[in-house]
Amino acid sequence: MSTIVAKSSILLVLNFMLVFPSVLATKYPFEESKPCKRLVLYYHDTLFNGTDATNATSATVANMTGLDREHKFGMLVVFNDPLTKDHHLLSPAVGRAQGFYFYDMKDDYTAWFAYTLVFNSSEHKGTLNIMGADLMYEKTRDLSVVGGTGDFFMARGICTFQTDTFQGDYYFRLKMDIKLYECY
Ligand SMILES: *[C@@H]1O[C@H](CO)[C@@H](O)[C@H](O)[C@H]1NC(C)=O
Ligand SMILES: *[C@@H]1O[C@H](CO)[C@@H](O)[C@H](O)[C@H]1NC(C)=O
Ligand SMILES: *[C@@H]1O[C@H](CO)[C@@H](O)[C@H](O)[C@H]1NC(C)=O
Ligand SMILES: *[C@@H]1O[C@H](CO)[C@@H](O)[C@H](O)[C@H]1NC(C)=O
Repeated sequence: MSTIVAKSSILLVLNFMLVFPSVLATKYPFEESKPCKRLVLYYHDTLFNGTDATNATSATVANMTGLDREHKFGMLVVFNDPLTKDHHLLSPAVGRAQGFYFYDMKDDYTAWFAYTLVFNSSEHKGTLNIMGADLMYEKTRDLSVVGGTGDFFMARGICTFQTDTFQGDYYFRLKMDIKLYECY
């Protein structure tokens, strides 16, 4: 029984190789410069300062630790931030970014992000899930798009961060250049 199974599975693999020779030729089918879908969005993080509850969209839920206060080591922020198509905070939001980040480096600024882009507009309905390291000392940082739902069913790709501005401790804006390499 087991030899029959083994033989037929070898045949199956051989057939597959004959029918899809490209599987053998290209181990890596994605071309970085050719995403199947691309979205450029601006993310606005307005951190609650203790009094601006009407306008703030993120808040510190665990404060920085004594390990490195200058770089906010350990500070955890939960956000539900607007996404716009241009730089302007007051432009109509095309979606929300919901999740958290925390600062995680001694002697410099880095953070770790895990969040969902939630779209509910006539243009897009669905979600994209993104996670990865924000190495702020780099001009651009690549995070992974690990999945999606709705219009972004089973999506995967790269989300490139670029700091667009930061104003003191309570507002910063990121350009998020989202390139998907698996689209349905
Ligand atoms: C918090 O932000 C609001 C709006 O920017 C500002 O009016 C207020 O003075 C700030 N409060 C503190 C404690 O910084
Ligand atoms: C909140 O945002 C609105 C709209 O931008 C602005 O008019 C208002 O001054 C802001 N409030 C505070 C406390 O910053
Ligand atoms: C967080 O820690 C900083 C530095 O120790 C301190 O200045 C600040 O007041 C703390 N914030 C909160 C909300 O406790
Ligand atoms: C999504 O948009 C529809 C149509 O504008 C609205 O009825 C619905 O409440 C929205 N859902 C959420 C979760 O915002």
